[in-house]
Amino acid sequence: MMTFGEIQAAAEKARAVIGTADTAVVLGSGLGDYGQTFEHVSRIAYTDLPGFPASTAPGHAGEFIGGDKNGRHVLIMNGRFHMYEGIQMAQIALPVRLLRLLGVKRLILTNAAGGVNLSFHPGELMMITDYINLTGQSPLTGPNMEEFGPRFPDMSHVFTPALQNICREAARGMGLILREGVYCWMPGPCYETPAEIRMLRVLGADAVGMSTVPDAMAACHAGMEVLGISCITNMAAGILDQPITHQEVLETGRRIQSSFRGLIDRIIESI
Ligand code: HPA
Repeated sequence: MMTFGEIQAAAEKARAVIGTADTAVVLGSGLGDYGQTFEHVSRIAYTDLPGFPASTAPGHAGEFIGGDKNGRHVLIMNGRFHMYEGIQMAQIALPVRLLRLLGVKRLILTNAAGGVNLSFHPGELMMITDYINLTGQSPLTGPNMEEFGPRFPDMSHVFTPALQNICREAARGMGLILREGVYCWMPGPCYETPAEIRMLRVLGADAVGMSTVPDAMAACHAGMEVLGISCITNMAAGILDQPITHQEVLETGRRIQSSFRGLIDRIIESI
């Protein structure tokens, strides 16, 4: 596990390349090209940062990007670590913690997710209002880093109400349907069974995925404001009579990529 000083050293190396910003976006599967829409782009790979593991998930590049849009400098986390990559839980929190050390106060998390709520459709966006962690794991496990936050952080408002309002307004301004709901973090890497999805629905989940929650936990612990948006790329297991494939997930992501990007652009402009 990296110490605070080691994370600081990695952050200094990243700062020299991508600079600092108060807002950052974490790109989920399918949104990886968003960085190309920025000007004055700089990049640093996670593997160039001492102590960082390599990102192995398909569709996840594993790099930080700095770039400008409408005169504002924004940082981007292009690729994240997942529980199914078999890395230490605390390592999942590293990129978000590094962003905090680069001045980031507001984190926009995106992902691809399966629709658990039967009224959802593939290709719709869902703003995350809360999460359920069913992995039994936490990225905050281990000695607490007081420099980031307290041992027992309050999780009553992980997803910042003011950012949710900005997101709703931005979607309304674009005439974009924006669903809202609870995202459930599952360990993966296999998709869920139909019985698990029925269970999740009973528990109050609207969408399911293998990411985002540990990022949100690390961000909330570090006092950051958080917004989460899921692209419902497929209906979760057992809802439609068809298998779930990573290809379907990527294809749906690509199909709505331009409205997803447009929404994030608008949100960044209005904060
Ligand atoms: N389950 C878990 N993760 C996912 C899914 C799903 O159905 N779709 C995209 N990511």
